[in-house]
Amino acid sequence: KIVDNLVGIQQQEVDLAKFLGISHCMIVPGNTDHQAKVIDSMGKLVEKALEILLPLGHNIVAVMGGTTMAKIAHCLTPKLSDNRDLIFVPARGGVGETVAIQANSVSAAMARRTRGKHRVLYVPEQLSMHAYTPLLSEPSIQQVIQLIRNSDAVIHSIGQAMKMAERRDMNNEIIAMLKRNHAVGEAFGYFFDESGKIVYKIPRIGVQLEDLAKMKCVLAVAGGTSKAKAIVAYMKHAPSQTWLVTDEGAANSILKE
Ligand code: G3H
Repeated sequence: KIVDNLVGIQQQEVDLAKFLGISHCMIVPGNTDHQAKVIDSMGKLVEKALEILLPLGHNIVAVMGGTTMAKIAHCLTPKLSDNRDLIFVPARGGVGETVAIQANSVSAAMARRTRGKHRVLYVPEQLSMHAYTPLLSEPSIQQVIQLIRNSDAVIHSIGQAMKMAERRDMNNEIIAMLKRNHAVGEAFGYFFDESGKIVYKIPRIGVQLEDLAKMKCVLAVAGGTSKAKAIVAYMKHAPSQTWLVTDEGAANSILKE
């Protein structure tokens, strides 16, 4: 029975990658929406994926925030640093998350877990554009921006649009606009409708969608039936080298549509 299930999952991984137009999918049994521990299995696969994807030697790894990313960080181990010199940086500043799940915190946690290094982007998440722009010319901030620009890999999650907008306290006008435009998914601070059309972008520095094509390693991590539509919407923009670590909850829902 277990073997049948594994063979089933392997076939589903191939089908899902083909459906989403990306390089590879890894699917763990279960559904994150109902079983919190499924995230730990996804975390183990993230480590496995990074073992395969990150070349030996020096790697700059840009990471996004969110609850998935924060939990995944705790599943990484020092093994990843065997023959690798890892520097983690936040992929994008200022999407408006609380401290524990900001990209800076995830990047620090990943460095701690893997015994790697990390650099902090000292630009508070909740700043207005007016206060934010002049900070970008600060040399210490420029250094981190350069590292982000030169990153070899990016790890990120995908969120449900309205849930993300509300969690990040986006203003009512923007929330109404997202509803009007039927936004379903969010990644990297971009909001997408079901067809993948970008309906809004949080105007902040760091990795932009168009930068993804040149990244050697793009790893997306998102599970749960509730994220199925968001995953499909974002994947219309994902570069072909993308790997996705997900669960059966999301995979079954995407493939049966
Ligand atoms: O950009 C995507 C979101 O950060 C995902 O957040 O992992 O808390 O659902 P989440």
